[in-house]
This record gives sequence, C-alpha cells and structure tokens, in this order.
Amino acid sequence: METSEIRRRFLQYFEDRGHTVVPSAPLPSPDPNLLFNVAGMAQFVPYFVGQQTPPYSRATSVQKCVRTLDIDEVGKTTRHGTFFQMNGNFSFGDYFKEKAIEYAWDLVTRPQSDGGYGFDESVLYASVYYEDDEAIALWKRIAGLPDDRIVRLGMKDNFWSMGIPGPCGPCSEILIDRGPEFGADRDWEAGDRYLEFWNLVFMQNIRGEGGGKEGYPILGELPKKNIDTGLGLERVSYLLQGVDNMYEIDEIYPVIEKASELSGRKYGVEHVDDVRFRVVADHVRSALMLIGDGVTPGNEQGGYVLRRLLRRAIRSMRLLGYEDPSLVELLPVSLEQMKKSYPELQPDFGRISQVAYAEEDAFRRTLTAGTSIFDVAVKETKSEGGAQLAGAKAFQLHDTYGFPIDLTVEMAAEQGLQVDTEGFRTLMKEQRERAKADARAKKAGHADTSGYRELREKGVTEFTGYQELATDSQVRGLLKEGAIASAAEPGETVEVVLEKTPFYAESGGQIADEGLIVADGVKLKVLDVQKPVKGLIVHRVEVLEGVLQPGLDVHAEVDHEWRVSACQAHSGTHVVHAALRQVLGPNALQSGSYNKPGYLRLDFAWTSALDQATRSEIEEVANLAVRQDLPVSAQYMTLPEAREWGALALFGETYDEQVRVVEIGGPWSRELCGGTHVKHSSQVGALTVTGESSVGAGVRRIEAFVGMEALHYLGRERALVRLLSENLKARPEELPAKVADLAERLRVAEKELERVRAAQVLEAAAALAANPKDVFGVQYVGHRAPDGVNGGDLRKLALDVRGRMPADKPAVIAVLSVNDGKPGVVIALNDTAREWRLKAGDLVRVAAEKLGGRGGGKDDVAQGGGTDPAGADDALATVEHTIGQLVTG
Ligand code: ALA
Repeated sequence: METSEIRRRFLQYFEDRGHTVVPSAPLPSPDPNLLFNVAGMAQFVPYFVGQQTPPYSRATSVQKCVRTLDIDEVGKTTRHGTFFQMNGNFSFGDYFKEKAIEYAWDLVTRPQSDGGYGFDESVLYASVYYEDDEAIALWKRIAGLPDDRIVRLGMKDNFWSMGIPGPCGPCSEILIDRGPEFGADRDWEAGDRYLEFWNLVFMQNIRGEGGGKEGYPILGELPKKNIDTGLGLERVSYLLQGVDNMYEIDEIYPVIEKASELSGRKYGVEHVDDVRFRVVADHVRSALMLIGDGVTPGNEQGGYVLRRLLRRAIRSMRLLGYEDPSLVELLPVSLEQMKKSYPELQPDFGRISQVAYAEEDAFRRTLTAGTSIFDVAVKETKSEGGAQLAGAKAFQLHDTYGFPIDLTVEMAAEQGLQVDTEGFRTLMKEQRERAKADARAKKAGHADTSGYRELREKGVTEFTGYQELATDSQVRGLLKEGAIASAAEPGETVEVVLEKTPFYAESGGQIADEGLIVADGVKLKVLDVQKPVKGLIVHRVEVLEGVLQPGLDVHAEVDHEWRVSACQAHSGTHVVHAALRQVLGPNALQSGSYNKPGYLRLDFAWTSALDQATRSEIEEVANLAVRQDLPVSAQYMTLPEAREWGALALFGETYDEQVRVVEIGGPWSRELCGGTHVKHSSQVGALTVTGESSVGAGVRRIEAFVGMEALHYLGRERALVRLLSENLKARPEELPAKVADLAERLRVAEKELERVRAAQVLEAAAALAANPKDVFGVQYVGHRAPDGVNGGDLRKLALDVRGRMPADKPAVIAVLSVNDGKPGVVIALNDTAREWRLKAGDLVRVAAEKLGGRGGGKDDVAQGGGTDPAGADDALATVEHTIGQLVTG
C-alpha cells in the first residue's frame, strides 16, 4: 500500500467518525523551546491545557515532523530518520481510553478491502503504563489480547510528553512482533523485534521543567481528559510494503535508486555505502519539506539544521564517488514522491530548488576553501610529529567551513592522521549550550510560561489599536521575572497585562508600540510589548511614578507620532513586497521582514544580486503605487477564502480559523497580516531603497527608508554631493567624469613614480660595481638600498651590478632593503663564483635567518626575506663571513 494511501485511509477513517480533518501545522515550532514540531499534538496544545476552546471536540491530522537530536545516527541504524509524518486522532474532552483503543485496534486490524490496514492480529501486542489496570482490561475486552501479549512498562516508555513543560499523560502502544530474526523473545527494550507503531496518549496531566524522560514533576491534572495519538506513518509503510526499514519505502527509496544510478554503486552491498545512501535519501526529503515550509539555510537554529542536512547529503554523494552537483538530480526525485501527499510542493518547486541549489553551490566553494585550511592543519600536525589533528581545528572546520566531523575524520584518515573527536565534541557541546542559553533568552521572555498562562486564564487581551490610539482600561495583573507579583514601585521594570490595550505587540515584522500608561499618580513608560502566549498582550514597562497594582484603572496611550511612522513603515513593506513580485516575478516571496518607524527591511527568496537598473525599477514601481493613492483596507475571512483570493501567507506561520487580509489597491497587494497600516498608500510618503544584500543562500535583503526618514536620507546624500562638488570644484553632474579622470591621472602618476624609483635604484649600480670588497679573492658587493625598494627592483639592481662586473673573477652581490617594515634580500652570483662552489640559495638562507625569515632560489640568483628589519646589517655581514668560510674551508 502506498504511503499516500495509508495517509488517506487514516484521515478518511476518522473523518467518518466525526473528526475534523486539520491540516498539518508548518514544520517550524511555535514554541520557543523547540525548533520543529515533533508530534501531531503540537498545534493543539492550547486546547489540551484549556487556554483556548477548541472549535471541534474531535480532530485528525497528519503532522509533518522533524527530529534532529540523532542527526548523526541517521542511516547507521535503520531506526532514525529526520523528517517523518505522524498520523493522529485527537479528542478534546470528548472520548477517552475506551474509544481510542477501539478505533486504533479496528483500523489496524480491519481488512484492507474494507478500508483498514489489515494487520495480522496474532502478531500484535500492547504496552501500557505499568499501573494502568484500566487500559489492560480494555485491551483484553476490545482486542481480545491475552495476558502474555500485554506488557506493563515504566515511565520511560509509557508516559508521554513533548520533553518540555506542558501537557502529558500515560500512554499505551500497539507493537508488532517482526519475528525472531529481529531479536530475542520478549525483549521490549531493544525495540527492533517488537516495534511500536501507534502510540495512544491519555492526555490528562501537566508537567514541569527538568527530570529527563523519567523524573519530571507532574504538576497536576488538565481541565479535561483528552486523547492524543500518533501512528508513525513511515513505520506503517514499511510494515505494509514488506520492506525492511523506512529508507526503503515508496516515498524515500527512489532517491536511493537515483543516487545509486549516479554513483554507480549498489545499495545493500557495503554497510558504509548503505549508510551514505540512507543519509542522502533521508536528508534530501527533509530538506525538501523544510524549505517548502519556508526554512532557509543559515547559521542559527532551524536554518543551521537545514544547512547540515543539505551538506551531509551532498558530502555523502561525494563519498559515494559522485562529484558533480547532486541536488539538481535528487531533489526532483523526492518531489515526485512527496507531492502525492503534498501537492503544494509542485508550484513552489521553483523557489525550493533555487534555495537548495544555491546552498550546494556555496558548499562546493566551501569545500574548496576548507580543504586548503585542512591541508595546512595536516602539514602542521605532521611537522610537529603529531598523529592527531586537534579538536579545535576540527571544530573550526566544522564551524567556519561547514565540514561535518566525519568528513574531517575521513580526510584525516586518508593522510594517516586521527582526529581528537573528544576535544571536538567538548567544543560542540559548549557551543550548543551557548545556543540554548541564547534561545532561552529570546525575547518571548521566560522559558517557563506558567506566569503568562495564569494571567491568560483570566481572559484574552482585547486589542483596540486598530481603531484608536488611547484606551481606558484596567490592570489585570503584573509579573516580575516571569512570576505573578502584587505591586511595583518607581524605578522597577515589570510586565503588565491590561484588560484591553491599544499597544501593538511586536509581530509580523512590526516592532512594538511606544507610549505611556497613566493613572491617578501613576505613570508607566512602555518599553516593549510582546505576545508570549496566544491571546495575551504583555507590556514591559518602567514605573516612573506611583505604585502599580492589579485592578488599577488606567489610561493607555500610544505615542501618536510613533504609530503614524510605524504604519508608514509597515504599509511600505507591503508595497515593496508587491513591487518586488511585480518586477521579479512570483518566486520573489518574502521570507521575513522587520519594520520600525522610518525604516523597513524585507528578506525574500532570490539567488542573485539585483543590478542597479532592477533596484531602480522596484523603487519606481513602489513609489508609483504610493503616488496612486491606493486605498488600504483590512478584512477578516477564513484561511481557505484568503488563499482563494491569492493572499500571501508567510511560511512557518500557523494561522487561526479567521485571518486578517490587508489589501493595498485591491488585488495589487494582498497579504495575511495583523499589523497596523496607513489608510491610503500616499500616506507612506517617500520611499527610497538604500541597499540590497545577501543574507544567506538563496535569500536577499532589501532595505528602505520611508516617510520623513526617506527625505532625511536623501537630504544627507545631497549634502554629501555638495561637499564633493565643492572639494572637487565641479558641478554635481560633472562629478562622475571628474572622479574617473582623477583616478586615471592617479594611475598614470603612480606608474611614472615607479619608473623613476627603479631608475634611481639602478643608478647606484655603476658605483657599486666599481667598488667591490675583496673577500679571500671573491669580489663582494653587500649593499643596503634605501628603504622602500621592492623585491622586483632589488633583483633588477643585483643583476645589473653583476652585469657590470668582470666575469673572470668570482663575484657575489647581495642587496637588501626594508620595504613596508619587512626586510627583503636578493643575492646574485656570476659563473666564476659558482665554479668556486658558491651558491646563491645557500647564501640567501644564511641572510634570511638573520632577518627572521626564509629564502631560497637557484644557484645564480636567490631571494629571501623576513620580519625583523633590525637584522639587516648583520645579514650582509654574515653573507660576507660565510663567503670567507666557504672559500677558505
Ligand atoms: N504525541 C504522541 C507521540 O508523539 C502520540 O508519540
């Protein structure tokens, strides 16, 4: 049975039983503590914890997930994949254990001809949380399982949570016995023989921080008893497709076949190659899905994971012996398979592939650069007599050049060296910890959101800021360091929640409003506004006067000037986005934005730099839209309606049932957006593009000033031109020609200067040739030329002097100069000197040693240099001394 069919049957089965089919949430996790969604229930957390009322009491979904903890293990065993899909059915206070078990057992064992999966009952087992007698009784009654096919396991196996504070509960899994060739009888731990494929979580508790898999604190009960299940789609696929593991299923194997065709190697012959094939197939698919959900390769967080996946895949192809760009061959194969379940990938493939191919290009360049760093490191290690490449080197190669450690290890092995992987891992660990600390410190506030949730339970904060800038309201509560507090004094900085507020919380790229909250004798300055949990607007304020307490009646007022400028910037962002797409085409999709009063920037999918003409055109289109005074409006509709309308949604955002669509000039610009906007495009004022740059593979950034800031910017440029005009004594329009002329004249002058200097140096030649020193019969000229003579000129001088000296007597000429603080020396010998067994290379080495450097060359002319100018005179004396030794010795 095809994977897409297994998926379809699942949704159908539960839809027929009153479940609403909910689309998968995008891969990036909305929870700041997680990079990607790791379970189907992630998007339903607010329903489980009672923060929001679910619009349905039963739901079903197939969630896209990425787990990356074991990225290095992928392919080594066949149990780890990065991207996978989890089929789930969910009950929010509706049915519980009994029905969950009934549905799961029915679907699993129902004949395939009747819409089920048709598993053979006699090889199925159930595991339960060790004290869950109720579940045991249900498995016996509903599934008719005998005692010896039900196993009680502890918290590690049969109590489920997302690994972070939140909902959790005991669980029960369906296992399949794959037979004795996969392991020992009743060995539940090893996991290969008794493979669990459907997890039913009886979601009824809430957990706190810490404690690993087994020891975390259970804080209490959820408001209702819920069901959360997860059926591993890939697992069911390989069980039903009769293949050995997830890499061999229909959605993945074609990539292995393609890789085999390209590399000429076979899958299933050598273990090392199989690992590489699996890495390629798994990572290519994960990358396709991640980029599809708006992730772009980068050096942080999710972007870094994607980068690693792509690079590991490319590198594995090289290790399989395929050196050409490989994604261009492999990604389309993965697309063919995945679009059966994700048809939206096809129309987006232009953008997706652009991002992936650009990363491959970048990595290929990196490999070239990194390889020379690697070569130097190998040389150094060997010359110091070491057998091990330092951990710090491996880390540098990894961190700066994106070399996976196995690449470094492998390349080192080819050179007969080992790598200090222990040291490398320590450095990696330190880095990971730094990254974790950064994530914790993220603006959303405290990793522990319980304080926010407590305030959120008192109700959502009403946002009045679309209609007005000042609102009378009441203080609902305050927090200090994330904990509920009862009062705050002047000088303190705390977080305040109001019943309603006109303050816009940072989101959708727009920064938070500024302003004041006042009451009788109380004055608060608003420093920041965030939405740390859904529905709750939190103001970070400094108490300027009075004592702040819950229940206080207040007047909240946004700084008018600030908001007007913020609206200009946000509408300006939409205008620039629409202009980009009009000029570059629909692939130029926004991947992120940031705007604040007077300034905006927008990141978009594009691989090459925009030339000046294109930039001007975009600016022109944007300003034309501003001048046309297009109406700006916002309206609410359902997400499908918005899509129908062609409204642009941002990747990686989860949208509510009802979405807000902001239009500028009707269809010209339609975006899903919660931001604040001007009423007419003309209110954006002037818009001037100030820069365009790269911010990662396949992503460009355009920046602009709007409104008064745009005028100030142009004013500054005008002042600059005036200054240049005055200094160069030319009218502004003459400046380009004037500057070009100056540059040309400078070039000619520099050339002339060089010629004169060389002539001066050579002028000395005649005098030097006429006055050699006799060193035991050798005519020796040891000359320190003035500072600043370069190597080329020194050489000319040495050769010129040599040419002027009699050929029948041995002659040695050594000339030296300190150029840019660095001494350089050239030594030339005539043939007679060489007959006397003198060699320029030997002499220059002796000289260079005194200069703190090295040198070498042929027997007749050699050149050297160093870093220590103080040794210059000594160097010449040593050459003389050495000549003496050589001819007398
Ligand atoms: N949320 C449960 C899991 O991921 C079903 O296993």
